[in-house]
Amino acid sequence: MAKLLEVNNLSISFTQYVQGLNRHDSKVISDLTIDVNENEIVAILGSSGSGKSLLAHSILGILPYNANVTGEIKYKDKILDQSLKEELRGEEICLIPQSVNFLDPLMKVSKQAIGECKDNKEYEEKKIRQREVFSKYGLDESVDDLYPFELSGGMARKVLLSTALIGNPDLLIADEPTPGLDKKSVEETILDIRNLKELNKGVLLITHEINVALETADRIAIFYSGYVIEINNAENFKNAENVLHPYTKALIESLPENGFKLTEGVQPLDEVAGCPYWENCPVRLDKCEKNKPKLINHNGIMIRCFNYEEVNDGT
Ligand SMILES: Nc1ncnc2c1ncn2[C@@H]1O[C@H](COP(=O)(O)OP(=O)(O)O)[C@@H](O)[C@H]1O
Ligand SMILES: [Mg+2]
Repeated sequence: MAKLLEVNNLSISFTQYVQGLNRHDSKVISDLTIDVNENEIVAILGSSGSGKSLLAHSILGILPYNANVTGEIKYKDKILDQSLKEELRGEEICLIPQSVNFLDPLMKVSKQAIGECKDNKEYEEKKIRQREVFSKYGLDESVDDLYPFELSGGMARKVLLSTALIGNPDLLIADEPTPGLDKKSVEETILDIRNLKELNKGVLLITHEINVALETADRIAIFYSGYVIEINNAENFKNAENVLHPYTKALIESLPENGFKLTEGVQPLDEVAGCPYWENCPVRLDKCEKNKPKLINHNGIMIRCFNYEEVNDGT
């Protein structure tokens, strides 16, 4: 399977000035490593405010100006620098944004869904595709000429979704594509994401809903306090015994079908010296408070936990 996207050791922080002159760097994403292959759906599962949208925006090259970024992003083996991001955006790499504010308030929705075209022929082709995709999501012809302010929240989400699919991307970044949609549209969306995979494309599905990740993804990356703490096959999430990290186990046990044993605790807001899950962890070791575990490969599962590192690892 060829690699489409590789994110290596990505960190994102913001410099903020507290009370005028005191500089404070707040790290939102730390040392994030993830990849997406052709013919694969990878879900990033994390709670609200954990930096998921920032990850999406860094891949697309649309981070806010005050973001400090380190690390490397590659697309089809090429470094994805800002100019390549801009070249591929909306074409090979498409985003379903989380916020409806991504719609241009001054442009009719069908026009923005079609995007720029190099000639009339491309326009005609895309117009046909736009109509097809819109009607699949129940957006009839009267919607084409509306402006974003004339849409309901659900319609606006469908327009964003359609816009990304009309682009026919090789890599789709879907940032929380389902909340606020009716049941039928949620099913359509999941089906469309799966169809992209069947067409040998790759999808990075960002969500805070474990059920959406379980229903859709091949692999799931668990995001906790800015860190990817485990990347495991979706299949293994059916049973808490087949996942490794204590937080992932707690997450699975907290599902209604497993009796809601909620042990999550609070994710620290500030960067901590050791493992971010240390305080809540039932299997913590002495060194977890002051040392950070690395993301390591344990029998094919990526895990960030000292319990799976060699005993004599020098830390
Ligand atoms: N422009 C910004 N300046 C400072 N902090 C920001 C900025 N944008 C986002 N953040 C911080 O990053 C955090 C993560 O944001 P986000 O990626 O939207 O989370 P998620 O998508 O997981 O809900 C936010 O809680 C916020 O504190
Ligand atoms: Mg978000």
